[in-house]
Amino acid sequence: MDDTKYLITSALPYINGQPHLGHMVGCLLPSDVYARFMRQMGKDVLYICGTDEHGTASEVGALNEGLSVEDYCKKYHDVHAEIYKAFDLSFDYFGRTSSEQNKEITYHIFEQLDKNGYIEERTIKQVYSIDDQMFLADRYITGTCPYCGYDKARGDQCENCTKVLDPTDLIDAKSTISGSGNLEVRETKHLFIKLPALEEQLKKWLETKEYSWPDVAYSIAKKWLKEGLQERCITRDLKWGFPVPKPGFEDKVFYVWFDAPIGYIGITKQWSDEKPESRHWKDWWLNAPHVKHVEFMGKDNVPFHTITFPAQLLGTQEAWTQVDFLKGMSYLTFNGGKFSKSEHRGVFAADAVAEFPVDYWRYWLMANAPESSDASFTFEAFANTINKDLNDVLGNFINRVMKMTTNNFGPVVPQGGDTTDEEKALFTRMDELVNNYTTFLTELEFRKAFATLREMWVEGNNYIARNEPWKVVKTDQDRAACILRTALNLIRIYAILSAPIMPQTAAKMLNLINVSSEPLGWINEPMAEALICLKPGHPLCQPELLFSKIPPEKVEELAVKYKEKEA
Ligand code: MF3
Ligand code: ZN
Repeated sequence: MDDTKYLITSALPYINGQPHLGHMVGCLLPSDVYARFMRQMGKDVLYICGTDEHGTASEVGALNEGLSVEDYCKKYHDVHAEIYKAFDLSFDYFGRTSSEQNKEITYHIFEQLDKNGYIEERTIKQVYSIDDQMFLADRYITGTCPYCGYDKARGDQCENCTKVLDPTDLIDAKSTISGSGNLEVRETKHLFIKLPALEEQLKKWLETKEYSWPDVAYSIAKKWLKEGLQERCITRDLKWGFPVPKPGFEDKVFYVWFDAPIGYIGITKQWSDEKPESRHWKDWWLNAPHVKHVEFMGKDNVPFHTITFPAQLLGTQEAWTQVDFLKGMSYLTFNGGKFSKSEHRGVFAADAVAEFPVDYWRYWLMANAPESSDASFTFEAFANTINKDLNDVLGNFINRVMKMTTNNFGPVVPQGGDTTDEEKALFTRMDELVNNYTTFLTELEFRKAFATLREMWVEGNNYIARNEPWKVVKTDQDRAACILRTALNLIRIYAILSAPIMPQTAAKMLNLINVSSEPLGWINEPMAEALICLKPGHPLCQPELLFSKIPPEKVEELAVKYKEKEA
């Protein structure tokens, strides 16, 4: 018996900032598609996500809205949760990194690291803003770049000439929070995690991953190790965060990247504590050799998930579940540029679901997932894909088959005729495609997977075009019955296989052919069986259109509305 359990996590989105299509396809949707697929495969799945809440950005956001940072985070946690629900993300739990549970586990991990000698104190120099009464993170300081003269250079980097900077390099440095130039450099004591001391352990661990990690993830991790690891500061002079439980550091908090990934564990414990159907969080996280942890994230997150977080866990010398498979996604751009909330450029997730059915988005984003390279969203490309793949190929097939059947045989799966070489050829081709599709999904090759799904739809259309049931029905009722029966069975296969990417559409498809969607399994049997599953006499529902075309005027209107084009 396979007792492997799958722990599936999506990178935890920052609480501040509205999720846009780039976030959706960067980790949230792919993890959901995978979780749904694995559940349909009958696997034991726990799918976890939540908001990443600590850090300066939340403090600044709260300040701008005149809210306490607690209220601000509560408000936006609910905003995120609602958007993800609208996108049909099937988390078992959507939690928060600021939870008590996460605090408890963060403290435990910190104390273990400290006890094992992996934490050290250092005094560093940092910019203090007298008017803001706080130390400023590098990116909250701007000024003129000493190299190129660009006047909006940030304390960590000049966007114009890309030079990496130290905030003290800037000319006329100002706080971006208050605009005040009343800054001074102060000495402050911080805690560092001694990554160099964990390097050997990390290397050994990484070597065990060589064959199960995709190249990108593995090469990013290797590159970091090759360049040599540095001690990293894990505390900050902020108010919002978990206070550091160490004498002399009580007025500091942990750095957001220290407690954020621990959030995967903390959120699992939230689920354990709050959901009666849950199991103990430790079954997934501690001494849990049967757990496979599959992580999804944007590629910028990869170093944190392959180096720093694994090191945090290794240094405890406890048997924490580590990442087994990691899917790093590239970026989605908006018409080749950046999404910008302030300029209202780009489609934010909340706008998206107001414009079109959520499955259109799920389909477009996953079929065009930025895997090996970045992808660009345009309304024209979106409309082309929806009109062609969903409306013309899948939608038309279903509609024609349903109509021809009900018009000629009534609302039932027709009786008569035996399978011929035509059907056998279809079975062979479909066997191959279903097999490839399953493999691609298992290996998280989304573009290839959904291109294969589309090929299956095309095969269905070709089958109908070749066999012309609308003509045959006039001369040979039995043969027409067999063709339509096979085609109706294809609808069932398409529904089951489309469910991970288009759950609502899949449910509608099953509804048309009167098949229950609970429980929704996978297609594991050969097509010679799967394609005769619906038997003659099985009742059908009334045909109903599943998709509608997006007209060119609408494309034009949206391109202007979302500033893809100037009006
Ligand atoms: N909040 C980060 C981002 O959106 C991701 C954090 S992943 C975590 O890039 F695991 F560390 F939480
Ligand atoms: Zn510069």
